[in-house]
Amino acid sequence: MTRTQVGIIGAGPAGLLLSYLLHGEGIDAVVLEARSRSYVEQRVRAGVCEHPTVELLTELGLGDRLAREGLPHHGFSLRFDGEDHRIALTELTGKSITVYGQQEIVKDLIAAHEAKGWPIEFEVSEVDIQDLESDRPRLTYRDPRGGARELVCDFVAGCDGFHGISRPAIPAGRLRTLDREYPFAWLGVLAETPPSHEELIYAHHERGFALHSMRSPELTRLYLQVAPDERLEDWPDERIWAELALRLETSGDFALHEGPLVDKGITPMRSFVTEPMAYRRLFLAGDAAHIVPPTGAKGMNLAVADVYALSAALTEWVRHNRTELAESYSDTCLRRVWRAEHFSWFMTTMLHVDPGADEFARRLQLSQLRYTASSAAAATSLAENYVGLPFA
Ligand code: APR
Ligand code: PHB
Repeated sequence: MTRTQVGIIGAGPAGLLLSYLLHGEGIDAVVLEARSRSYVEQRVRAGVCEHPTVELLTELGLGDRLAREGLPHHGFSLRFDGEDHRIALTELTGKSITVYGQQEIVKDLIAAHEAKGWPIEFEVSEVDIQDLESDRPRLTYRDPRGGARELVCDFVAGCDGFHGISRPAIPAGRLRTLDREYPFAWLGVLAETPPSHEELIYAHHERGFALHSMRSPELTRLYLQVAPDERLEDWPDERIWAELALRLETSGDFALHEGPLVDKGITPMRSFVTEPMAYRRLFLAGDAAHIVPPTGAKGMNLAVADVYALSAALTEWVRHNRTELAESYSDTCLRRVWRAEHFSWFMTTMLHVDPGADEFARRLQLSQLRYTASSAAAATSLAENYVGLPFA
């Protein structure tokens, strides 16, 4: 049996950043992760850090490689009717975003833990939360050699993503979930080729949505809207490039740079919110509590905002025995979560082709795109949400 103040399940951005913040406040925490270190470090996920995320990581001393290797972006393109309509983020808001892969943040956080000797246990299995009704919840699990282990905690942070065990550990009837399914998914690829444009391109085309993004001057990240039940086997590289070329076509000078595809995957699209985000001494953060469709690039940024609030709440409780911030944790987070849910839903519905949409819905969609591209007020609203609203 081991003791810790905060037992954290999951070594994604939520769990790792929470552990980093707590240790920084002198609070003891242990992270338990089902996968191996190399798996979580290599997993290709989101790539856009909004302004408040970059500021926080920098303030915390986690911004060195981000500043060196991250790509600052001051605008992006909405591409429709074969033309680019630039959303000038910095002109409209004074702020920018930084393209820096989620797994790079994960690598930086793991390296910081290693340097300080803060514990992360990888490749654990059968993690379970016991005695959740008491003031000493326990995490039982198996270490990589199969040995039974037990971690007695003052608090548990469920940072184990959408498919984790934390959310289902809360008694049925204590949680409400609200969700939306979308009639499409994203096929995402990483291509070993320089980006075809200096900025991100969100393209709306009658054949479906496409996104041109990047990871570095040598690596392009691209996405295609596909059917939710689409199979990867049906998308050989040539078909992916042909479809991207069609959907990204413009009347301006644009040539898609092709190259070897080094990662391919299909991601379902959903919106999902759990209310409240806490039960007794268990606090949910990140994808364990909420999912947004990736069109607004908000998933990782919401995880960061959650654990920023959670670390403050737990610090107040541990240091001063004050529970107000912990009691308001869920409400504080959910205000930001619902703003991001709306924005992500808005970007998704504005840009994708809904196979069930009638002619009226299609006209509305096109009108919204044209309005966003031509009105400074509409573009500013989009830009303000995209670069990220300030943390609570
Ligand atoms: N026991 C231990 N670890 C677990 C368990 C379990 N039962 N279940 C899941 N995990 C681990 C996963 O292997 C993963 O490493 O929890 C971690 C959760 O990390 P993420 O899925 O990255 O979630 P989060 O940290 O909330 O970050 C949100 O992820 O999906 C993206 O776009 C989303 O960028 C956002 C980010
Ligand atoms: C990405 O680069 O992976 C990316 C960028 C913008 C999005 C979603 C994903 O909206």
